[in-house]
Amino acid sequence: MLSHKHLLGLENFPREDIQNIIDTAFNFREVLDRPIKKVPSLQGVTVVNLFFENSTRTRISFELAQKRLSADTVNFSASTSSLKKGEGFKDTAQNIEAMKIDAVVMRHPTPGAPKHLTEFIDAKVINAGDGAHEHPTQAILDMMSLQEKFGEIKNLNVAIVGDIDHSRVARSNIYGLVTMGANVTLCGPPNLIPDTITDLGVTVNYNIDEVVEWADAINVLRIQRERMGIGLIPSEREYRKLFGITEERIGRKEKEIVIMHPGPINRGVEIDSRVADSDQAIILDQVLNGVASRMSILYLLLGAKDGDMK
Ligand code: CP
Repeated sequence: MLSHKHLLGLENFPREDIQNIIDTAFNFREVLDRPIKKVPSLQGVTVVNLFFENSTRTRISFELAQKRLSADTVNFSASTSSLKKGEGFKDTAQNIEAMKIDAVVMRHPTPGAPKHLTEFIDAKVINAGDGAHEHPTQAILDMMSLQEKFGEIKNLNVAIVGDIDHSRVARSNIYGLVTMGANVTLCGPPNLIPDTITDLGVTVNYNIDEVVEWADAINVLRIQRERMGIGLIPSEREYRKLFGITEERIGRKEKEIVIMHPGPINRGVEIDSRVADSDQAIILDQVLNGVASRMSILYLLLGAKDGDMK
């Protein structure tokens, strides 16, 4: 059980709830290692995946999580819906709920859209990424991956490198990691890091080599051209030179550093292939933990009763 009805973001989300989601996700990771990767936990529960924006990982991951929990799932894609015929957001939402569903997983380009949806429907809502605002399930799977690698998140030195300003992954990771007691440093082009970001309890260092030296783990972000409007970096080559996670840069560090990336990756820009494919990278572990984390979130919001899975 969680203390919130919905999962809309990690801002002001309790530490106990984050830890409960991560601990339960480790239980579901064991299910994913079984020959039959399925439990009956959400039998009879119906979840609609409402995606108004492209997705590979999040969408597949949620759908797999729902199937592994034996929930009934329906996929909605804005490009093939009656939205194309002029139907509004409220009517679409209310029509979907009239079909007796229990939860909606929503990705939308507009910040706050999942919260807006909660005003029209009674079903539980999970934010699968809303514009540049939040991507809470990505941050949960990132934190689960850190806990798996290091044992605990508290006091870890975690750097987030790249286009912070346009990144919902960065924002949710900042809220979550600070709540869990990690030390967070942001690095990237100064025009892509908001001035007020230090109010969230993080530090900023524009020197990537110092940041690599300091960090236990680096979460590497791509340049989000779709949200930038105009080009805010001079060139991809210049970006790689100044902020790219290259083999040479990582190789200078004595202690091994853990490399993370939420995907999609732009190889040769924010991260070199040799780093992304190295043993230091846990990028594919993050993807697997994403299924377990989403199983945990769905289960705790929709199926868990006091005393279950304890
Ligand atoms: N990490 C992530 O959100 O990827 P997708 O956009 O492919 O879902």
